[in-house]
Amino acid sequence: MYLRNIHTFAAVLLTSVPRVIASQPCTQFSPSPVPIPQLPNYFPPNNGLGATTLLDVEAISQTLTLYPYIIDGRAFPFLSSIFTTDAVANYSAPLGVLNGLSTIAATLEQALASFPGTKHLLGPQNVRICDSKKAISVAYYRAVHFLRQNGTVGPGDILGGDSVLYAYGQYQDT
Ligand SMILES: *[C@@H]1O[C@H](CO)[C@@H](O)[C@H](O)[C@H]1NC(C)=O
Ligand SMILES: *[C@@H]1O[C@H](CO)[C@@H](O)[C@H](O)[C@H]1NC(C)=O
Repeated sequence: MYLRNIHTFAAVLLTSVPRVIASQPCTQFSPSPVPIPQLPNYFPPNNGLGATTLLDVEAISQTLTLYPYIIDGRAFPFLSSIFTTDAVANYSAPLGVLNGLSTIAATLEQALASFPGTKHLLGPQNVRICDSKKAISVAYYRAVHFLRQNGTVGPGDILGGDSVLYAYGQYQDT
């Protein structure tokens, strides 16, 4: 009985989604962030993607995944494998809009230097291939900033609000 109810609910969801979600053009995706309630309009279900497109989606997803390793590992020279030299990054306040790979790398290095450690955790990701030259993506994140040298050692340090700064947000990329 319970299972059947769940099944019915899922079926209702599946049949109603295509009516609810209308695709917005990729051109409106950046540079200003899209508010969360509008994100479904930009990432309709990827039904019927071909194998070539799936490879592109996977390559973009892998690139997104590299970012936390580089940031948390303080391996800033590797940012060149995920940002083009003319990349523009809007990190919002207090970092603001950063123009060019070298500015992005230098600013991030300086901003993170005050934390003994960080851990950027990616949540749900979505990638949309817009055309042969363009794609957009969104990835939720929670960034843990440890405020004490031993912040990664004891569970108390990880759970204690006084020793950890959490930042919540999304990465929206074109
Ligand atoms: C950067 O992002 C902020 C919101 O986080 C937005 O208000 C601002 O317009 C954006 N700047 C540009 C140049 O898009
Ligand atoms: C971190 O904790 C360990 C074990 O308690 C201690 O030996 C070490 O000196 C601490 N390091 C710092 C930088 O406080």
